[in-house]
Amino acid sequence: MQPEQWWKSAVVYQIYPRSFADSDGDGVGDLRGVINRLDHLERLGVDVVWLSPVYPSPMDDNGYDISDYQDIDPTFGDLDTFDELVAGLHGRGIKVVMDLVVNHTSDEHAWFAESRAGLDSPRRDWYWWRPARPGTTPGTPGAEPNNWGSFFSGSAWQYDERSGEYYLHLFSRKQPDLNWENPEVREAVYTMMRWWLDRGIDGFRMDVINFISKATELPDGEVRPGELFGDGTPYVFSGPRIHEYLHEMHQRVFAGIDRPLLLVGEMPGVTVEDAALFTDPDRAEVDMVFQFEHVGIDQGDGKWDVLPFDLRTLKASLGRWQRGLAARGWNSLYWNNHDQPRVVSRFGDDGEHRERSAKMLGTVLHLHRGTPYIYQGEELGMSNSVFHDISAFRDIEAVNHYGHATAAGADPEQVLTALRTMGRDNARTPMQWDGTLRAGFTTGTPWIEVNPNHVEVNAAAQYDDKDSVFTHYRRLVDLRHSEPAVAYGDFTMLLEDDPHVYAFTRSLEGTELLVLGNFTGETRPVDLPLGTDWAGAELLVTNLDDPHVTGALAPWEARVLARRLSA
Ligand code: NOJ
Repeated sequence: MQPEQWWKSAVVYQIYPRSFADSDGDGVGDLRGVINRLDHLERLGVDVVWLSPVYPSPMDDNGYDISDYQDIDPTFGDLDTFDELVAGLHGRGIKVVMDLVVNHTSDEHAWFAESRAGLDSPRRDWYWWRPARPGTTPGTPGAEPNNWGSFFSGSAWQYDERSGEYYLHLFSRKQPDLNWENPEVREAVYTMMRWWLDRGIDGFRMDVINFISKATELPDGEVRPGELFGDGTPYVFSGPRIHEYLHEMHQRVFAGIDRPLLLVGEMPGVTVEDAALFTDPDRAEVDMVFQFEHVGIDQGDGKWDVLPFDLRTLKASLGRWQRGLAARGWNSLYWNNHDQPRVVSRFGDDGEHRERSAKMLGTVLHLHRGTPYIYQGEELGMSNSVFHDISAFRDIEAVNHYGHATAAGADPEQVLTALRTMGRDNARTPMQWDGTLRAGFTTGTPWIEVNPNHVEVNAAAQYDDKDSVFTHYRRLVDLRHSEPAVAYGDFTMLLEDDPHVYAFTRSLEGTELLVLGNFTGETRPVDLPLGTDWAGAELLVTNLDDPHVTGALAPWEARVLARRLSA
């Protein structure tokens, strides 16, 4: 039998450096700030840190618009500080994964500057340049090469007066898409990746990596009722050459490296069938993916169309992913990251039951099969913040959406309500280290306001509290390390039609775990179709201060029971 891959029993912690810890008082987090907080990570016990981008960037999309792949933005520090951080993490047994953003660069990257210089530039073909639609006047509305909208509102094309052509940008106009059809582009990316690996990092989180292969004819997309632009995603998500590119990358960059690496592909729109291919070890593409289905269940027509949460939909989705990757492949497990609202506000209760529901959500997620990711602050039960009006938002996605939607006649209050619920800034408010004025994040003026609940919700108050959310997460991390059934066991979903209770088993050899989570604020009976007796089973995890194992679950209760069958 093959030895199990190391990352099956690992837990990853995501740092969004801008919002983690500021060491120099400029109001923006930095690498020295992370170095100063390494104890936090060690205490939590995580195995890997994924650092969101720290490369030089005009910060149009907070660093996901990179202008130099082989340096550090002065806001965050420099390469020496970066090396010190890697050494500090390695010294504590923690691996480091960098964000790899190669679907696009910044428009201020030297490659794009050259590409833009003229039609005969040697790098012209490094990006997606196209003439205006035939029969139109270049630069006028409707003359764009196709009808695609950008993820950040407006057209996905920007007109370039100098050459009279347009370039494609699936995200902001300052994030032109690289043309992966061109082998020189691929080679340049692989060279850059090897440079970071030589510097000692342990892998990559690959930003929207399933967008890099596009249907080269770039056809118009469907225009939905009420929309101005067409949907290009069918021609972009997991395009024709995506498996070829990822395998090539694997061969050119990772093959021959014999230290343990972690390769995770962020893949909006990926299907479970495709994920099984992407993560099949024999195909040598990536180790695991970030899929998006379960974070779309409360969104209707686009992300701002907020639907009520239905637990059955969540179970149907996550259950299908568990089954689809059971035999081959592997998944990442996440509720949160820098793009998602806080889970305790989304699927839990950020009022009266904040702590208990945060622990329940953590328990349910971490007991699934897959590699769990903790996003900074999730381990404290941080919740969505307060945004009084549009001036409190910082994210380009939110600000652009507000501008476009209100210009098109939408009610500003309704737009704000959607932004407060789904907006990415909820994830980006400063890490809450303590209860002081700026939450211990900075001595200056934070680039985005601190959540007022930091007075109560903060790390300092939780470290030594045996009932805190932090202590609970620490136990979950320990459990993945110590209990093989958590890391490697089979998964069986139970009670699929129950709208209130999440229930499943994990089993490995003689061990069986039963995981129960009450997703409501009321006591709920548990009617398990198990036929076997769990009375007398060991209570492995609970989120109740004074637990009694009964036939009903208390509001937001989480319970993990273990039975060991003797051979
Ligand atoms: C996905 C990243 O997670 C998000 O923050 C970013 O805006 C887009 N990709 C574009 O890079």
